[in-house]
Order: sequence, then C-alpha cells, then structure tokens
Amino acid sequence: MHEPQVADALAATVLERCDALAAFSEEPDRLTRRFATDALRLAGASVADWMRAAGMAVGRDAIGNVVGRYAPAGEAATASYEGASGFERPAAAPTLLMGSHLDTVRGAGRYDGMLGVLVAIACVQRLYDAGRTLPFALEVMGFADEEGVRYGTAYLGSSVVAGRFDPAYLDRRDADGVAMADAIRAFGGDVEGLTAARRDLAGVIGYCEVHIEQGPVLEAEDLPVAVVSAIAGQTRARVTFEGAAGHAGTVPMSLRRDALCAASEWIVAAEADARAEEALVATVGELAAEPGASNVIPGRVVVSLDLRHGDDATREAARERLRERAVAIGAARGVDVDWSVVQETSAVGCAAGLTGLLAEAVAAAGHRVARLPSGAGHDAAVMAEIAPVAMLFVRCEGGISHNPAEAVQVADVAAAIDVTSRFLELLARAQ
Ligand code: GLV
Ligand code: MN
Ligand code: MN
Repeated sequence: MHEPQVADALAATVLERCDALAAFSEEPDRLTRRFATDALRLAGASVADWMRAAGMAVGRDAIGNVVGRYAPAGEAATASYEGASGFERPAAAPTLLMGSHLDTVRGAGRYDGMLGVLVAIACVQRLYDAGRTLPFALEVMGFADEEGVRYGTAYLGSSVVAGRFDPAYLDRRDADGVAMADAIRAFGGDVEGLTAARRDLAGVIGYCEVHIEQGPVLEAEDLPVAVVSAIAGQTRARVTFEGAAGHAGTVPMSLRRDALCAASEWIVAAEADARAEEALVATVGELAAEPGASNVIPGRVVVSLDLRHGDDATREAARERLRERAVAIGAARGVDVDWSVVQETSAVGCAAGLTGLLAEAVAAAGHRVARLPSGAGHDAAVMAEIAPVAMLFVRCEGGISHNPAEAVQVADVAAAIDVTSRFLELLARAQ
C-alpha cells in the first residue's frame, strides 16, 4: 500500500491539478478567486470531476462547498448525492472529514488551500485504485471561502458545515455592493438552507487538513512535513476615521481634520504595539480613502485590522489597546472613529488522539516528528468547534505564501500523501 512510486505519481498529479486550478481566476494576470465567483465555480467543477474519478459521490452544499464522499466498506457506492438543497448522505456511518479551501487571496499562490483538498483526493484515489475501502467513510470538502477576501469574513464554508454561520453576514456587501445573500444565490447556493446544511455530527470521527506551512520552519529544519499543535486565534476589525474633506490648497494645516493622517498615525502605532508584544501580529491590509483625489484632504478612511496571537487573552487585550489608541488619535485630530469587530476566532488546540496518530504516521514514513503551532488561520479552527481536528503542514519554499511565489516540492507532496495514507490506515486499525 505504501509503494513510494505510487505516492510520487499521485504527487505529480496533485501539482498538475494545482496548476490547472490556478487558471481559474477573476483576474487575467494573477490568481484571485474569491467566494461565490465564476472562477470559484469552475475550480469547484474540476475538483468535483477529480473526486468522481477517485470513486467518490459528489455534492454541493448550501453555501457551495464541494463535498465528495468515499463510501466505507460494506456500503454500496452511490453515484451522486446531489440534492435540491444540499448534500444528502446515507444513514450515519463513521466518517472522517478531510479537506481545505478552494478560494484564494488577491494575487495568490496556487497551493494555499487547494493542496489540502487535492492531497485528500489523492489519498482516496490511492485506495480506489487498489480496490480498497476503509471501515469509515471519507468525506473530502473543498470549502468555498476561508480567506474572507470578498466579505471580510473568513471561514464562510466551514462555518456552514460546523453550524456556526452567522445569518447577519448575509447583509454584508462586497466592494461592488453585492449582498452576500445575492452572491450565494447567484452561485447556486441555498440561502434559506444554510442553517440546515450544518453537518450532522453522528458518526463523525474528526477532521484532518493538510496545508502548506506558510512559514520557514520546515525549511530550516530540513523536514518535508510537520504535525500542527495549535492554531492562533484572530480578530478582524474595520476601523473608520471620519474627518472633513476640504481643499488641499486653501485649508491651513492647523485647521484640517485629515482622516488619512489619523489613520496613518494609528497604523504605525498598531505596528509598534504588536512589535512590543511577544508573538502578537497586527496587519492593516486594506485601506480606502475618500473622496480620493490628489487635491482633496481625505475626509473618510476605512481600514481593516487583522490581529492574531496564540493566546486569546493576549489578543483581546491588544484589541482593546488598539481600539483606545484609535479613539485617542482621532480625538487629538478632531476625527471621529468608528470601530467594529467583523469576526473573532479563538485559538484552538489540535486533538491529542488524531494528532498522535498523525505523528505516528510521520514517524512510520521515516521522518522526524516536528510539532508546530500555526499562525495562519485554517478551516480546522472552525471544524474544531464540532469535532476533533488534526493538521499536517507541508514545507513550502522560503515559507512564502499569499504571494504568487508560493512553491512546494513534488517530493514533499509525495511525503504528505504517504503520511496521510498511513494515518488513514492507523485510524482504520483503531476503529
Ligand atoms: C488565511 O490564510 C489566513 O490565515 O488569513
Ligand atoms: Mn490563506
Ligand atoms: Mn489556507
């Protein structure tokens, strides 16, 4: 079952598929694939085809997650589970959930998210080609949104599966004014069915996600893979600075209420705050200044804040410091500040049992077992609210991600397929 040449061939296919998916982009010159776009629909259709070719029944749930199911031993394989309003399954059978996300950031690399979906499919393909089944069903999820680029809300896909979707999100609008509810409908989703699309937990063994490391540790340690110990919590906030627009030539500096200057002072203060706190990271990645003309004092600025730490209390204390700082900077400049938290996710630990099996699989495959915390967010963080989770990191070149230069080695992907296949075998034995 663990012939290296099989994993090598499957890894080559995984990389070809990552290349193929990278062609589905909203922008001609770079990879951008946000939630509920045509690019995501096309990517999902390819993934569904690859799932079917690996012997899986395929469906789409109410938010547009692509879900493939590989039937367990003793259950007749079903050609399709596609129902009118979601994904229908046979009666509860023990099931391991796997997967990751198919959406990307703007100007993305081709592995963040997609690699985890495709490695999971490769493991199923390996079983299918060998004519094997497991004592549990394997369900592979290609989540429709993890990055949260379109609506500022991360994890839309996994939050539906976990029953954590907040219906208040449906009124949020993207940069073009499209409400999330309309985007989901146009994507073929079922807005009214989002709550019911929550995954029935009967029989669910857990969730396992393979993902690129997005950091430099594995390269430094000369290891292809590592077991993830925990995932940092995050706060996403939107901060609005409301000053007064005015003429760039006539309003003296002392009489201005420049919203962009207030925002800039606060952004630099946020950077200094995060630098002063061990392992705290604060990022302002979006900034919109209005009215947006070179000869007009900016009257209104909206910025995003992404704040993360492995310890929730530390992150929450930092959030309050930064909020107070924004208000103080605004007050000193005659600029009103509105602060709204868009989303918060707590830090989660990976489950000891599943993670122990994954570590055993890493060792059995001949690698030293390294355990790493994740600073990046993952669908596993949401799935951890409903099931035990485990994650496997795969080395990526230079630790670069959220960047077109993202790269992985085929041998490392083969190692990930080998380790994940061994993990499935160990889990089968433990059932
Ligand atoms: C997802 O990649 C995130 O950590 O923001
Ligand atoms: Mn990402
Ligand atoms: Mn990701």
